[in-house]
Amino acid sequence: MQVQFNNKNHKELRLSDFPGINSRILELGEDILQSDRYRKAETVVHHGTTSVYRHSLAVARYTLARCIIDEARGKEVSERDAVRAALLHDIGMTDDEVHDALAPQKCYLHPKRSAEIAEKEFDANEVQLDSILHHMWPLNVVPPKYREGWILILADKHCSLNEVVLGQV
Ligand SMILES: [Fe+2]
Ligand SMILES: [Fe+2]
Repeated sequence: MQVQFNNKNHKELRLSDFPGINSRILELGEDILQSDRYRKAETVVHHGTTSVYRHSLAVARYTLARCIIDEARGKEVSERDAVRAALLHDIGMTDDEVHDALAPQKCYLHPKRSAEIAEKEFDANEVQLDSILHHMWPLNVVPPKYREGWILILADKHCSLNEVVLGQV
């Protein structure tokens, strides 16, 4: 019997297949990327060797690529909500109290703080807030309500494992 490999999943993760994503992220998140808060995120170390800024931008790129795949398959998804949630999901780490907390506490504290900042400083809507609040699932046991939140979880885990375990920043 001939073994049939399905390369679809690997192909999906090649960002070079999505040439317009960088400019689309700038378009959807310009106010976030130009903010003082995001400038601070550049200086906040995250996952050992990267920064909150670089990690979040990487997560936003994978998130948008996944949205494009979903749209091509006829799924309804908001690129805007998904990208903005991705850009802001770890922004709570720019709060010194959260950043300096012990690792287990940080897991629970930072999504809440990120959501507070997203709402107050970037006018985040319900989909964005829910996605940010629940992006640490399954560590935080409540799952997201929206497709955008699941996409964010996938992208975040992918980037985090690359950064923390494989050292590919
Ligand atoms: Fe996080
Ligand atoms: Fe993250």
